[in-house]
Amino acid sequence: MVRSVLVTGGNRGIGLAIARELAAAGDAVAVTYRSGEPPEGLFGVRCDVTRAADVDAAFEKAEAEHGPVEVVVANAGITKDTLLPMMKEETFTDVIDTNLTGAYRVAKRAVRPMLRMRRGRVILISSVVGLSGSAGQTNYAASKAGLVGFGRSLARELGSRGITVNVVAPGFVETDMTAVLDEATQEQIRKSIPLGRQAHAEEIARVVRFLASDDASYITGAVIPVDGGLGMGH
Ligand SMILES: NC(=O)c1ccc[n+]([C@@H]2O[C@H](COP(=O)([O-])OP(=O)(O)OC[C@H]3O[C@@H](n4cnc5c(N)ncnc54)[C@H](OP(=O)(O)O)[C@@H]3O)[C@@H](O)[C@H]2O)c1
Repeated sequence: MVRSVLVTGGNRGIGLAIARELAAAGDAVAVTYRSGEPPEGLFGVRCDVTRAADVDAAFEKAEAEHGPVEVVVANAGITKDTLLPMMKEETFTDVIDTNLTGAYRVAKRAVRPMLRMRRGRVILISSVVGLSGSAGQTNYAASKAGLVGFGRSLARELGSRGITVNVVAPGFVETDMTAVLDEATQEQIRKSIPLGRQAHAEEIARVVRFLASDDASYITGAVIPVDGGLGMGH
C-alpha cells in the first residue's frame, strides 16, 4: 500500500534527499518548503514550522492529496552560531523555536490521525552535537538534545498504539548548512571524523528510509548516529 509521508524542510539538503529516497521506495511524499519553490516532481506545501497554523494547513493539504500521514519526518532546522557571552536571547529562542518547538508542532499535528490508524512512524532529525556539544552552538545543541528527550518520551506515549518514534543524529553532512563554515573549520571537523569525510545527504536518507520501513518495526525510542564515527561514545 502506498503510504502518505510528510517531510518538513524537504526543499533542499537532507530533507530533499529523504523525500526523494522515500518517493523512490514507493511512498506518496509531501514536502514542506518555507521559501522559494517546491522541488520538481514532489508535492510541495508551503509551511513555516514556527507557525502552528502553517503546520496544520500543510497537513491538511498533504492529507487531501495523499491521505492521512503515516510517516512524518521533522527535519526543518537552522543554526545561528555564536559564543554564549555574545548570544542575544532571540538568537537562542529562534533556534529552539524552529528546531525543537517546530518538531513539537509537527509531531503533535501528526499523531492524532496516527492514533486513529493505530500505526505510524515519527522520525526526528537531531544532530551529533546534541549529544557531544559544540562550542558556539549552545542554542543548536540544546535544541537537538531536546529532540532526544522529546522523542523518547513520545515513544513511550505511543508504543502501545503501534507508532514508533526514532531520532536520527547525523554528523557533518554536505549541505548549505555546513557550506557556510570556512575551509579551515571544515578541515578540522573532517580530521576528527573516523571515516575522514563528510556524509552525503543520501547516506542520512537511507537510514530514515530504513526506520520508516517494516524492517524497523521493533525499533522505537532509538537515537541512531549517522556520523562516520564522529560522536562515538556519546
Ligand atoms: N548539514 C549537517 O551537517 C547536519 C548535521 C546534523 C543535523 N542536521 C540537521 O538536519 C536538518 C536538515 O539540515 P540541512 O543540512 O539539510 O540544512 P539546510 O540545507 O540548511 O536546509 C534546512 C531546511 O530547513 C528548512 N527550514 C528552516 N527553518 C524553517 C522553518 N522555520 N520552517 C520550515 N522550514 C524551515 C529550510 O527551508 P528554507 O529553504 O525555506 O530555508 C530548508 O529546507 C536540520 O534539522 C539540521 O539541523 C544537519
